[in-house]
Amino acid sequence: MENTNSSCDINAKNSCCCSSEETTSTVDLKAHWNKAYTNNPEEKLGWFETDLSPMFQLINQINLQKNASIINIGAGSTTLIDELIKQEYSNIIATDISDVALKNLEERVGTHKIKTIVDDLTKPSELTKIDKVDLWIDRAVLHFFTETKDQDTYFDLLKSKIKDSGYVILAEFSLQGATKCSGLDVHRYDEKMLLEKLGSDFQLIEAFHFTYTMPSGDPRDYIYTLFRKIA
Ligand SMILES: C[S@@+](CC[C@H](N)C(=O)[O-])C[C@H]1O[C@@H](n2cnc3c(N)ncnc32)[C@H](O)[C@@H]1O
Repeated sequence: MENTNSSCDINAKNSCCCSSEETTSTVDLKAHWNKAYTNNPEEKLGWFETDLSPMFQLINQINLQKNASIINIGAGSTTLIDELIKQEYSNIIATDISDVALKNLEERVGTHKIKTIVDDLTKPSELTKIDKVDLWIDRAVLHFFTETKDQDTYFDLLKSKIKDSGYVILAEFSLQGATKCSGLDVHRYDEKMLLEKLGSDFQLIEAFHFTYTMPSGDPRDYIYTLFRKIA
């Protein structure tokens, strides 16, 4: 069912953008996210970042080659891609369910700088065909998968796409974080829950909390985690 709201309440309490009346099970997710990216200036989205320091605190300790393969899961039109390009990473995939978000991103950073893939992580198709990557980055995407089957699909894909000794960064709403985002319910995590989902082939390298401030000024607590696949 498509959300017929014409605008998002970006200040909605305990959320991060858009109608708080929807439930995940009734939403056409592609339409929902396309609407969020169509109806709001990027810098007003409840997940827009100007401070990328927590993400780079993790990326910088990995010592990746500049041609390492990096996939940004549910990238939207994130400024993280601009910064990775600025730091001369040359093998970046940005994937999202929203073609609008990825088009905005491509227009901003240049189509030749990144590869984009439109796909639904709960029913991956194109993503099953990519080569294994050195680094998987997810900020604020996994926590939208509230059903076990969708979480299992996500982690099955992840596990099949990380090279031996490759890395995974997951930055999700913490157990102290909001219960909704973009009008959708979320499933909150701590580092132990994430390690349990990843399984014994992965080890936790680092975890810390970071309080993100939304454009509205409201705080949102995230857990930032770095894992390595044991070769
Ligand atoms: C809160 S935004 C975060 C965007 C970006 N990671 C960032 O940090 O700015 C969540 C993103 O996940 C994407 N997304 C939600 N459900 C998805 C799904 N089932 N498959 C792929 N992407 C999805 C949305 O389109 C949106 O861009």
